[in-house]
Amino acid sequence: MTAPSALPGLHAPALDLGGRTALVTGAAGGIGRACALRLAAAGAKVRAVDRDATGLDALAEQAQGLAGTVEPHVLDLTDLDAAEQAAAGTDVLVNNAGLQLVRPIEEFPPDVFHTVLTVMLEAPFRLIRGALPHMYGQGWGRIVNVSSVHGLRASAFKSAYVAAKHGLEGLSKTAALEGAPHGVTSNCVNPAYVRTPLVEKQLTDQAQAHGIPEERVLAEVLLQDSAVKRLIEPTEVAAAVAYLCGPQAAFVTGTSLVMDGGWTAH
Ligand SMILES: NC(=O)c1ccc[n+]([C@@H]2O[C@H](COP(=O)([O-])OP(=O)(O)OC[C@H]3O[C@@H](n4cnc5c(N)ncnc54)[C@H](O)[C@@H]3O)[C@@H](O)[C@H]2O)c1
Repeated sequence: MTAPSALPGLHAPALDLGGRTALVTGAAGGIGRACALRLAAAGAKVRAVDRDATGLDALAEQAQGLAGTVEPHVLDLTDLDAAEQAAAGTDVLVNNAGLQLVRPIEEFPPDVFHTVLTVMLEAPFRLIRGALPHMYGQGWGRIVNVSSVHGLRASAFKSAYVAAKHGLEGLSKTAALEGAPHGVTSNCVNPAYVRTPLVEKQLTDQAQAHGIPEERVLAEVLLQDSAVKRLIEPTEVAAAVAYLCGPQAAFVTGTSLVMDGGWTAH
């Protein structure tokens, strides 16, 4: 029997993104901030994109002392041409920015549906489009799309969000097929509810839509389908994103890394 130490790849080196540029959208808050810090800790030069300038400044301050750097890039992703331009020259692209509105379909404002689809599906398409020429040119690239358990399952009252995330799953798989001959991988990460402002902001809406008091929303709505009865931390999602950017994940593409506490095991 071969000694374990003789097996190649057994001792996985730490993620090293020194010399790499990474673009993270929605980097001013929640999961995006955790991803930006994780990739900067691995040595990347992170282009941190968000419409929230104050949040980006706070992030840049937090990133001081890390091996890499964080450069704030204030941008509203509904400006699709600017989004595509911002992605030029990046080695790693993390499509993370998102927003949520909880309403029954018959009351869902069409303009909000349009904005959700623009930010969460069309902007990722344009960012990938902008990033690919450089990635293909050098024969290496990593695309990570922050999807959701709602990329794989629906919940009532989230028509725009569920539609956008299901679309993102398809976009990610298509990018994986096209990118494979060029050394570019594309994957989704699919968390259930994460402890972020996006979740905190929907507690009131969820209470109203489900007709229950706000204090019952966490246990009875958000964690109802999760076997693990807690929210995930943004750093846990960032660790999955980092794994998909590393050398051990070079064969992992076109997939969805589900971190849902057992939700979809039902
Ligand atoms: N929080 C969760 O429970 C959860 C679960 C699964 C998936 N996700 C996904 O993770 C991603 C991040 O969510 P989060 O919970 O960290 O949310 P968040 O609200 O904390 O952060 C989202 C960020 O996106 C930015 N953003 C929104 N619209 C933008 C626009 N038009 N232009 C530029 N920036 C914009 C916001 O300013 C914010 O900083 C989203 O795609 C979300 O769908 C979140």
